[in-house]
Amino acid sequence: MDAEPVAQQEPRPLILDVDTGIDDMIALLIAATSPEINLRGVTCVAGNVEIHHVARNTGKILRMVGRGDVPVSIGAARPLQRRLRTAPDTHGPTGTGYVELRGEDRQLGTTEYTAIPASRYLGAHVNRHPGEVSIVALGPLTNLAAAVQHGVDLAGGTREVVWMGGTLEERGNTTETGEWNACVDPEAVEACLATGAVHTMFPLDATQDIVFTMEDLRALPDTHLAGIVRDAVRFYVAFHQKADGIDGAYLHDPVTLIGALLRPDLVTETVNEQLACDTSSDPYLAGSLYRAENDDRASLSVATAIDAEGMKAELIARLSRAVGAPNS
Ligand code: BDR
Ligand code: CA
Repeated sequence: MDAEPVAQQEPRPLILDVDTGIDDMIALLIAATSPEINLRGVTCVAGNVEIHHVARNTGKILRMVGRGDVPVSIGAARPLQRRLRTAPDTHGPTGTGYVELRGEDRQLGTTEYTAIPASRYLGAHVNRHPGEVSIVALGPLTNLAAAVQHGVDLAGGTREVVWMGGTLEERGNTTETGEWNACVDPEAVEACLATGAVHTMFPLDATQDIVFTMEDLRALPDTHLAGIVRDAVRFYVAFHQKADGIDGAYLHDPVTLIGALLRPDLVTETVNEQLACDTSSDPYLAGSLYRAENDDRASLSVATAIDAEGMKAELIARLSRAVGAPNS
């Protein structure tokens, strides 16, 4: 008897929100080349670097893997209420470590930059395809909060909204209790948490379970693009050596993408929490998350532990495919 054909799942429609950024870059490469994902668009937000660097890096990274067809929408140039802070010490002067993705390269074609700003771009997708799209946000939540403020139903109108950000028990990487994406725009985090606009969160408690070393990246194929990735990550490793005393780097953003969408089986522990974000003027407190149990806000699923070996193997395999692709 013939075996039943295995039902092929439709690639999952995804919008990635990024502040590219070294680890955002790796998430983009994986999202753009994973067959399980239908990358409908990428929205840019200021964070690790200013918005013009984010937009340029994002477009060029997509073109380098032959994905100039993916629409890129430019979003918030600054947080909702605060002054923008960037992280050149962590991500390099233009966001990609020792590499600068400047300059034209006609062979790579052009990027489809859409004239529609990010918050409206998100709104258009949600309204046109209710319940269909997943949004994975890998930077400050400014674009998502702006969408919510414009009446976009992120809570009910998406398949899922995932955010890399915050910390529960792990020491913060920006303040004692604050994670970078949360600290850049605490008001945006609070606007999203209060309206249930984030369903799933990957805080430092999960993403810092895996340390990627330069030795791990030796497994990548010997291509021009692999060289770019290695040069970017080398900068990130040097930063982590100084800041955290580890001989490697945390790749928060691609770990979140893989754990949330591609290999949820690698998430070994989750908790459900009702969370709020401190928005006080005290810079040591703003951006810290706390439990808001007496509030009637929705609870979200928070990943708190990941199978480190499995995640490392999965990420390196997917990144190898990305940097081994045509044009790389
Ligand atoms: C987060 O902050 C950024 O520096 C990284 O890209 C990641 O999204 C980690 O705290
Ligand atoms: Ca990021």
